[in-house]
Amino acid sequence: MKKIGIVGGGQLGKMITQEAKKMGMSVYVIDPTEKSPAGQIADYQIVADYKDEKAIKKLGSMVDVLTFEIELANSKVLEDLQKKGVSVHPSPKTLDIIKDKLKQKQFLRKAGIPVADFVQVESEKDILNVVKKFKYPVLLKARFDAYDGRGNAVIYNQRDIKKGLTKLKGRKLYIEKFVPFKKELAVMVVRSTKGEIAVYPVVETIHRDNICHIVKVPAPVPSEVSKKAQRLAQKTMKYLRGAGVFGIEMFYSQKGEVFINEIAPRVHNSGHYSIEASITSQFEQHLRAITGLPLGSTKLKVPASVMINILGNRQGEAKVNGLEKALKIEGVSVHIYGKKETRPERKMGHITVIDETIDKAYKKAIAARRYISI
Ligand SMILES: Nc1ncnc2c1ncn2[C@@H]1O[C@H](COP(=O)(O)OP(=O)(O)OP(=O)(O)O)[C@@H](O)[C@H]1O
Ligand SMILES: [Mg+2]
Repeated sequence: MKKIGIVGGGQLGKMITQEAKKMGMSVYVIDPTEKSPAGQIADYQIVADYKDEKAIKKLGSMVDVLTFEIELANSKVLEDLQKKGVSVHPSPKTLDIIKDKLKQKQFLRKAGIPVADFVQVESEKDILNVVKKFKYPVLLKARFDAYDGRGNAVIYNQRDIKKGLTKLKGRKLYIEKFVPFKKELAVMVVRSTKGEIAVYPVVETIHRDNICHIVKVPAPVPSEVSKKAQRLAQKTMKYLRGAGVFGIEMFYSQKGEVFINEIAPRVHNSGHYSIEASITSQFEQHLRAITGLPLGSTKLKVPASVMINILGNRQGEAKVNGLEKALKIEGVSVHIYGKKETRPERKMGHITVIDETIDKAYKKAIAARRYISI
């Protein structure tokens, strides 16, 4: 049976591991935190940093296929391993482009894929110059190691520039034009090692403080918009090497245009609903894709689904309460990731609701979320 190695043992790794176990595969993960969410159920966890060369090489020697659930994974070491014949998916070259948000934007622009205007900056003077052209507001973004909005600062005026530079001190930066979007959308796309491609339905993502908060599927947008978003996702895949699931985040603008915010070369928060609502979950699909199995159907098996994240709201030991009340609501599934420590805004779990309409599912998701504390 196939042995899968995952760099990263967080919730994404955990949900990949759950599916792998279902299919009789064994799983080995690397994560710096002992008993990480994936490490709790994997066959073995190497306790080491995502960038640890020795640990990644060891993992490579233990498995048939290497994958990653986090962009922090060391793409150089993964590339070395690939050159030595280890199978790594998606391609480390793709990871290398995507992990630098500036490089990723340059790559997309060169491919003729619509993105918000952007420019590299190094100083306050650079930013002031860019703002003359872009006008306020703009987003100041860290190029590397940014996630859950933690590498972003919105700049509304000159005073915010200083604040933004303090928040992102010591990091390489770029500026992006602010997009006054009507909605944010996301599309999951998958390619197998055999070259087969499948596209998931378009979802709407609702962010709060730059963090994904709620996902609605199917996205409540006109069908031409969904088709445009799916076509854009498919076009993007032509330029990205390697097998696996990709999460493509998009803006749907006031003028009806669709363009790309960013790409995740991995399973994605906006696809968690697929565990309960799709014929093939994104996690099973990723495993099928990287091991060369036939891809499964991406169709919904229910009319509608809403996912809501359970984010931490305090610092301390995690304690789950309210499951009993939340689970009394029909159609509610609760996922708790098993992280020992909670922190404000940390992703601790999520709730998925399936129902006949998005409105019904949404109301239940909000109600269930109110019951859960962690
Ligand atoms: N150019 C922009 N214009 C308007 N809003 C933006 C822009 N860039 C980012 N945002 C808002 O901030 C959110 C997070 O931005 P981005 O995807 O760059 O950050 P991230 O740290 O990678 O977040 P995540 O891990 O949640 O994807 C976006 O989903 C969107 O709501
Ligand atoms: Mg994002």
